[in-house]
Amino acid sequence: MTVTDVKAATQDDIALEGRKLRFGYSDSKAVFDDVSLTVNKREIVCLLGGSGCGKSTLLRVLAGLAQANSGSVSFLGKPVLEPHPRTALIFQQASLLPWLDVVGNAGFGLDFARQPEIDKTTRKQRIAQAVDAVGLRGHEHVFPAQLSGGMAQRVALARALAREPELLFADEPFSALDAITRSEMQALLVDLVHRWHTAVLLVTHDIDEAILVADRILLMGGQPGHIVHEWQMNIPRPREDYGNDVSQLRLEILAALRDLRVISD
Ligand SMILES: Nc1ncnc2c1ncn2[C@@H]1O[C@H](COP(=O)(O)OP(=O)(O)OP(=O)(O)O)[C@@H](O)[C@H]1O
Ligand SMILES: [Mg+2]
Repeated sequence: MTVTDVKAATQDDIALEGRKLRFGYSDSKAVFDDVSLTVNKREIVCLLGGSGCGKSTLLRVLAGLAQANSGSVSFLGKPVLEPHPRTALIFQQASLLPWLDVVGNAGFGLDFARQPEIDKTTRKQRIAQAVDAVGLRGHEHVFPAQLSGGMAQRVALARALAREPELLFADEPFSALDAITRSEMQALLVDLVHRWHTAVLLVTHDIDEAILVADRILLMGGQPGHIVHEWQMNIPRPREDYGNDVSQLRLEILAALRDLRVISD
């Protein structure tokens, strides 16, 4: 068996909760409707779905970057009206500041206005720890123009981790990377969020990425978009060692996607 029944989490386990969310860029057409989901503390949830089904829009609403037309979002039990300082975001592009070196970019998120204040020594320690954790020790004073795409995404990850987030929102963070770098980054992400005790909501349209990374997979599809299926993962890590289970689940997800006719790539 590759999946188990999804167990109900208690209120204390929940980091993020979206309830009956609806969002449309215009009044007449909803991108998604009646979307309810939770991300538990320390849990990696992958939101999987075809291109254009509304994954990024949903992530923006859950992260407090956009407001839903109806429904509610709460983080650690409180309503989300704007991005919360205990959450961090990473996107497909690393979006580094070209005039700051690796250390400067990794520490950049610590200076945001809503970020809790920390003293200089703690700031330095947190940055050094995050840079080290993403494997960039020795590259502290390199500038973005000299970094490969994979290294730049490591800096973006360090910038997020330095803030010690309770929850990391990630929107296709590795989709612009080559296959080998992508798989290194997926393994690194899992390792780091386990060490940092961080929950993750990872948006992807890559089935293999979802299977390798997730504790739970939510499949989004339909028009307007909604959550159509959920898989609780119980394949041990590293999942590459459980080829049969992985293949079986992959086929199951593909069949669900085909049923939805949402495959577009
Ligand atoms: N700023 C915007 N204004 C109007 N419509 C938008 C805007 N951003 C996205 N949309 C539309 O909303 C729908 C959902 O887009 P969204 O980017 O959330 O999809 P997605 O699932 O993330 O797709 P992809 O996998 O390609 O990133 C699409 O039909 C898109 O064209
Ligand atoms: Mg998207």
